[in-house]
Amino acid sequence: MRQSPLVVVANRLPIDDNLAPDGAFEWRRSPGGLVSALHPLLRHTPAAWVGWAGGTGPAPHLPDVDGVRMHAVPLTGDDLRDHEEGFANATLWPLYHDAVEQPEYHRRWWEAYQRVNQRFAEAAAAAAEPDGLVWVQDYHLQLVPGLLRELRPDLRIGFFLHVSFPPPELFMQLPRRAELLRGMLGADLIGFQRAQAAHNFAQLAAQVLELPATDRRIGVGERVVRIGAFPISIDTAEMAALAARPDVTDRARRLRQDLGSPERVILSVDRMDYTKGIEQRLKAYRELLASGDVKVPDTVLVQVAVPSRNRVAHHQILRDRVEHQVGRINGEFGRVGEPAIHYLTQPFDRAELVALYRVADVMAVTPLRDGMNLVAKEYVAARVDDTGALLLSEFAGAAAELEQAYLVNPHDLDGLKQGLLAALRATPEDVAARMRAMREHLRRNDIQAWARSYLSALDASGSLLRRLT
Ligand code: UDP
Ligand code: G6P
Repeated sequence: MRQSPLVVVANRLPIDDNLAPDGAFEWRRSPGGLVSALHPLLRHTPAAWVGWAGGTGPAPHLPDVDGVRMHAVPLTGDDLRDHEEGFANATLWPLYHDAVEQPEYHRRWWEAYQRVNQRFAEAAAAAAEPDGLVWVQDYHLQLVPGLLRELRPDLRIGFFLHVSFPPPELFMQLPRRAELLRGMLGADLIGFQRAQAAHNFAQLAAQVLELPATDRRIGVGERVVRIGAFPISIDTAEMAALAARPDVTDRARRLRQDLGSPERVILSVDRMDYTKGIEQRLKAYRELLASGDVKVPDTVLVQVAVPSRNRVAHHQILRDRVEHQVGRINGEFGRVGEPAIHYLTQPFDRAELVALYRVADVMAVTPLRDGMNLVAKEYVAARVDDTGALLLSEFAGAAAELEQAYLVNPHDLDGLKQGLLAALRATPEDVAARMRAMREHLRRNDIQAWARSYLSALDASGSLLRRLT
């Protein structure tokens, strides 16, 4: 195997195999914020990406994608069920998101988690050049830093958690909490989205492992592991360029006509996930329709809810409930050819998504808990003429940076309704002042700045980064 100076290890590769409508396999961009953020960043660097390519069975041999080497790690049906759908997405995902759904604990899932992490660690060890840099991503692979250090002590190892990291009282529920913390501490630098998450981690290292820990450094034997907040971002310039492209602005104009040229368009774009607060948002919208504060067809809601983790029970239940709610609201408040909610479940490509961002007078991003939420940042970057109001949950990582958004607590139904009305009724001057400040923040704090700050902290001497350029 050819080796690379920088290896990213993530549960997913940036491409997924999908069954096309005609039954043939096709490659498609993988869903979610992790791939959105990292893929453009690595383009045309001498990097490698180790991850799962979707499906089960032997690992496919993949061509380079945009100059980045792809190393597929195979998963069996059992791995998929017990690691991916089990420990990662039915234990850790709900636990790390305030346990808004009950996390499940099964010993078989933990065994699969260890087994799959070992396989990823071995693949990363094989892909990295001597003294190279390996950057492990997200909650699926928290044991990889420790396992990799045993296999390849020569490497610099980074770990970044894209989701939030819970307070000790929640994390302490985990039956294998000590092993999980130890796994992460195999890294030289552990990055979180927010300072609070780093603080939670330091408290746990002290409490569970009895290690000397501050919010910046943890002593592990002879080693010092650094921890800190590195809020992830987007390619702001690329998003703005896409938003200004004539075909995208044309498409936005046509979309508005297709929506019946309403006075106000509200947009939400989520994976179908119970952390995203879709039900609460629909409930608030329904009450505003019922009270007459919002009227169809003057105002319409476009809800994109891309199916995700379809075989995890909570996700299936959510989809049924959301579709029931949408049907009910459209039945009660829509008219022929004038639905109250335009509900879309197919994933959109970047250009279509940006056209939607350009149409939206109000973007409603109201998760119950979210590590960052890149959709919120993408919307801001796409509003190149400083129009558009962002309604944003206080519980999204993005709220710590986009302070000029209309901030709401999505658990507070009245507060959510008031926030939505405030965003709908805001004056153009207020909207522009807020948007300008948020766009300026994202201009300075884009994905390149994120990668620079993380990688230069990991590679303090700069010697590895020089090999990449
Ligand atoms: N996304 C997309 N097509 C869609 C819906 C979403 O490409 O139809 C992208 C979106 O642009 C964003 C990512 O998926 O970059 C979602 O990231 P976010 O951080 O908002 O949430 P996550 O899905 O990672 O929880
Ligand atoms: C979030 C997670 C990512 C994950 C993505 C999509 O962004 O942080 O690690 O890849 O959701 O979820 P999926 O289960 O489809 O990989």
